[in-house]
Amino acid sequence: MRDLVMRDFQARYGREPELVVRSPGRVNLIGDHTDYQDGFVFPIAIERATWLAAARRTDPLVTVASHDHGLVDLDLLEIERRGDWSDYIAGTLRAVGAHTGFDASVRTDVPVGAGLSSSASLELAVARAAAELDGRDWDPRSAALAAQSAENDFVGVPCGIMDQMIVAAGRRDRALLIDCRSLELTESTIPHSVRIVILDTGTRRQLAGSEYEERRLACEEASERLGVPALRDADEAMLRGLPDLLRRRARHVVTENSRTVAAAAAFDAGDVAEVGRLMNDSHASLRDDFEVSSAALDAIAEVARRHPGCHGARMTGGGFAGCAVALVDENAVGDFIAAASAGYSDATGHVPTLYETRAAPGVRVESSS
Ligand code: GLA
Repeated sequence: MRDLVMRDFQARYGREPELVVRSPGRVNLIGDHTDYQDGFVFPIAIERATWLAAARRTDPLVTVASHDHGLVDLDLLEIERRGDWSDYIAGTLRAVGAHTGFDASVRTDVPVGAGLSSSASLELAVARAAAELDGRDWDPRSAALAAQSAENDFVGVPCGIMDQMIVAAGRRDRALLIDCRSLELTESTIPHSVRIVILDTGTRRQLAGSEYEERRLACEEASERLGVPALRDADEAMLRGLPDLLRRRARHVVTENSRTVAAAAAFDAGDVAEVGRLMNDSHASLRDDFEVSSAALDAIAEVARRHPGCHGARMTGGGFAGCAVALVDENAVGDFIAAASAGYSDATGHVPTLYETRAAPGVRVESSS
């Protein structure tokens, strides 16, 4: 990918890039639909990534040529919303206060709408390159917050902080327990005995869809009725008086926070069976209480769990479509991938894409001239 994006740049602009940035996607091991209620998440950055090659211009213009999305031209002095893919780039440049014009080429192997954070991956690629070209210090937390605000206020997607934070701050071979209130990060070593497998159902959904916002609003209503700043501050006993739907939505968030903290502790203790159990429970809660799973996600998680080498499997990310994630015994990965692919095809008639991933480092400048 690095060589390809450098070649894209040379072919389009007829000069060498000054720098190449690699910005990963992410997969969340556990803790979904908790971040926007100040809760806990436990993601890793993945090996799939967005690559961006860039070099300064002498005027305040930015040109980004994407292999998949075409060309974006914008003026840093007059950044405006266009209502398309370019808003992720424009919104990020505005949020970080970029002032140096540049030309860039972009490529990614993070699928769009699959629950692997292709948008945060792009935002942080742009933020990292802009910081380098402007000569600004790089701070992962403030970059993540700027990218989130670009997505919330400029693109118009009311996402939480998880995706931007793990893409900015991911660590090789570590999962990060993120406290989405304090933004404190606690690293967990992924035990050597297990591998992380992504199970892509091939189904896709736009996060901008109203369901995500609807869930978020239900959580806000529940926390208001309970008189707490966020559902992070609630416990199960407090939920009894809520109307049924709100109680189920809130119960997911409250129980998912406990599971997420417990999973990080179990990982640290090397208890992968316990992490797997918590992942399975998380899926059931997202399916039954929060209702953000889908038939395809349920089917792939269930097929995955049938394999004896699978400790646990769950949908990951916003839901409704996209990917699940499984924790698999290190000696069983090849067989697991073959069996779960075949099982899913038998059950649904569709061919999924399954692959192992390691926890990768967060966004970084891979090379500069
Ligand atoms: C999307 C959002 C995140 C988070 C997840 C669900 O990925 O971008 O902020 O809310 O959904 O956990």
